[in-house]
Amino acid sequence: MPLAARYTSARTLDTAPVQTAPPGPGEVEIAPAFVGICGTDLHIFHGDMDARVTAPAVLGHEMSGRIVRVGEGVEGWAPGDAVTVMPLRWDDTCPACRNGHQHICQHLDFIGIDSPGAMQQRWTVPASTLIRLPDSLPLDRAALVEPTAVAVHDVGRAQVREGERVVVVGGGPVGVLIALAARAAGGDVRVVELSPHRRLLAEELGLTVWDPAAEDLAALVREWTGDAGADVAFEVSGAQGGVETAVDVLGVRGRLCLVAIHSRPREVNLHRFFWRELTLVGARLYDRSDFERAVSLVAEGAVPADRLITKIVPLTDAPAAFEALEGGGNVMKILVDCTDEAQGAVQ
Ligand SMILES: NC(=O)c1ccc[n+]([C@@H]2O[C@H](COP(=O)([O-])OP(=O)(O)OC[C@H]3O[C@@H](n4cnc5c(N)ncnc54)[C@H](O)[C@@H]3O)[C@@H](O)[C@H]2O)c1
Ligand SMILES: [Zn+2]
Repeated sequence: MPLAARYTSARTLDTAPVQTAPPGPGEVEIAPAFVGICGTDLHIFHGDMDARVTAPAVLGHEMSGRIVRVGEGVEGWAPGDAVTVMPLRWDDTCPACRNGHQHICQHLDFIGIDSPGAMQQRWTVPASTLIRLPDSLPLDRAALVEPTAVAVHDVGRAQVREGERVVVVGGGPVGVLIALAARAAGGDVRVVELSPHRRLLAEELGLTVWDPAAEDLAALVREWTGDAGADVAFEVSGAQGGVETAVDVLGVRGRLCLVAIHSRPREVNLHRFFWRELTLVGARLYDRSDFERAVSLVAEGAVPADRLITKIVPLTDAPAAFEALEGGGNVMKILVDCTDEAQGAVQ
């Protein structure tokens, strides 16, 4: 039976064989190749999302792979096709869907959180979720398309314009991708990140990076913008301190785009919102156009996906990889190799 990596309870992941059924009408079965471990998977691993996640749960929503079988009525897709998946299933009937916001459907099934994800050797999904990958794009890099689509969406939500000053708070994988996407949109970008390893990596990608623990951010912002302050801040750290930084760096009429998942309510300096007429914009997930743009950014190398991949481990090492990411910032993106070759053949 094919193997899967499953979240079983707080801070525990196992690998176990799972049954697979042939794909039903409108579905395809995929052999996932590479699956990224995301900050959200870490929130699940911490037990912070137990109210939502039914254990044992197969995680994984950043992936690339190849189609193995297609179900009845599926057209335009064939075994062997290289794909990634936009892991969203919506009901098309709720008020959000009816207003054109299917990606944040009020009854959204986020595949990999609310239903089984890609960290397994065989994965069945609706054909409607498939996004085609160019043959020229190596599948390991293609696993970065999903987080890149997040970044594309966020930069769109914040409406970053040419020449605007942009601060990204939190230089994890999502923060760095937002910084790259904001730069591609013409922004003048600074990244604020605590981890020295992650700061170094962001610098190697040509980004200017600040250490909030060692530097006087207010002075740096003044030096950079004069009296003005930044036009846009992205909160991508998920920490109280990050929220404070993101509010503090903004100038008059600045926009704060909230990307991170905060598992508890945070204190926000609302006086600052009043005084400077700030705007808070939520940003969640992506739509198909964000995904298609992300495929191009990764395929063209505008997002140097290979530089963000710290290491690739077989499925059986997924638990250890979660521990390593737990341990802090000496890693950026870890991919789980789900290919049959990496585990030995499917039994
Ligand atoms: N909005 C969405 O649709 C969406 C999609 C994907 C991920 N997320 C969320 O975005 C967040 C970032 O994802 P990630 O994978 O990059 O996570 P991550 O945990 O790897 O990165 C967060 C980074 O913030 C840094 N940090 C912590 N406190 C800080 C502070 N006070 N100042 C500056 N930096 C600080 C950490 O060192 C870390 O590098 C997570 O909360 C994740 O759940 C949201
Ligand atoms: Zn809906």
